Amino acid sequence: MPLIDLIAGARPNFMKIASIVDALHRRAEDQGRPAGQAPLTYRLIHTGQHYDQTMSGSFFEQLGLPQPHLNLEVGSGTAAEQTGGIMVRYEQVLAERRSDLCVVVGDVTSTMACAIVAKKAGVPVAHVEAGIRSGDWSMPEEVNRVVTDAVTDYFFTTSDAACAHLRKAGVADERIFFVGNTMIDSLLRQLPNLRRPAIWDDLGLTPRGYFVLTLHRPANVDAPDTLGALLNAVVAGTRGLPVIFPVHPRTMKSLAPLGPLKPALTITPPLGYLEFNYLVRDARAVITDSGGITEEATILDVPCFTLRDNTERPETVTVGTNRLIGTNPANLAPAFDDLFAGKWPAGRAPEKWDGKAGVRIVAALEQVLYRREL
Ligand code: UD1
Repeated sequence: MPLIDLIAGARPNFMKIASIVDALHRRAEDQGRPAGQAPLTYRLIHTGQHYDQTMSGSFFEQLGLPQPHLNLEVGSGTAAEQTGGIMVRYEQVLAERRSDLCVVVGDVTSTMACAIVAKKAGVPVAHVEAGIRSGDWSMPEEVNRVVTDAVTDYFFTTSDAACAHLRKAGVADERIFFVGNTMIDSLLRQLPNLRRPAIWDDLGLTPRGYFVLTLHRPANVDAPDTLGALLNAVVAGTRGLPVIFPVHPRTMKSLAPLGPLKPALTITPPLGYLEFNYLVRDARAVITDSGGITEEATILDVPCFTLRDNTERPETVTVGTNRLIGTNPANLAPAFDDLFAGKWPAGRAPEKWDGKAGVRIVAALEQVLYRREL
């Protein structure tokens, strides 16, 4: 029976991998196999890029992910240290026991590092969320996307735009599988389980009576002055409503030099998946520089301000609730005016963002792996 490696490294990977693990287990049940025995055996490999309870552990618990079979424990470091550390350790894993396919998801350091190692070891690579492009080479994620896709054999995509980028790069049609969005699979599956965070009662929050803010891109958070200017513009625009700001560890380092923050801004540690999406679901709007949150806000039909100049997820703008505000703090005021004037378009779900991407991926993997074995 073919063995596949499922690579998970950083927070936005865990919900994508959870959808695939869930689909593998369900497929096993459909085939009448003993509970938990998948049609393809898999090794869940955590690279350890994100390692603490708030960034990793709680996601495994809440998403029902099994404990990883292996943890490469790379930990913090510069991009090169993390990339190198993951590569050396994953190479050892493959040397001890080769797998038949390596599945990587998203665009983080772990995605690229494992894809390169697998390809060089002669293990085919499948990339989930392949083909998306921001065109912004200042983002480490764009480098990771392009490098990963350069060594990918099977491309699982979330949009027509992603398929078009791949075709333009010369990828053959039979290697591209437009399957939908695994992040949305997990969101739809967990909607009934969303949990009201403690902060809801502590602050007396009410539906549509607050904002959620997340910032972690190096360009927005690494310089305290830049971060401070963005935070001031957010608070100026939200008309006194509370702003809940779960702070990423990277951002925390730049907050300290800013001194006391405006009272409307409530800082919390990173929230669990179920608590965070509970807050997003009932928020007046989400203000973020994350890519994944723009997708979740689209499905939850919550207005989303993206503090970036570009996006690799254009369908969240054309079909969804997202608007590219840019990184200039002066751009926030007109967006808040539109929001409070009720001029924010409602969102629709982009094509195939229907909760079934994981099932489509597993069906395609079986096809590919069993065809290869023949
Ligand atoms: C990474 C991803 C980014 C993703 C983000 C989500 C890359 C290039 N970037 O960025 O695409 O959107 O995760 O969170 O892979 N830290 C902790 N605890 C942890 C993990 C990290 O304190 O569990 C600290 C690190 O020590 C470091 C900082 O957080 O100081 C940043 O972590 P890192 O993994 O380097 O990248 P992110 O900025 O999180």
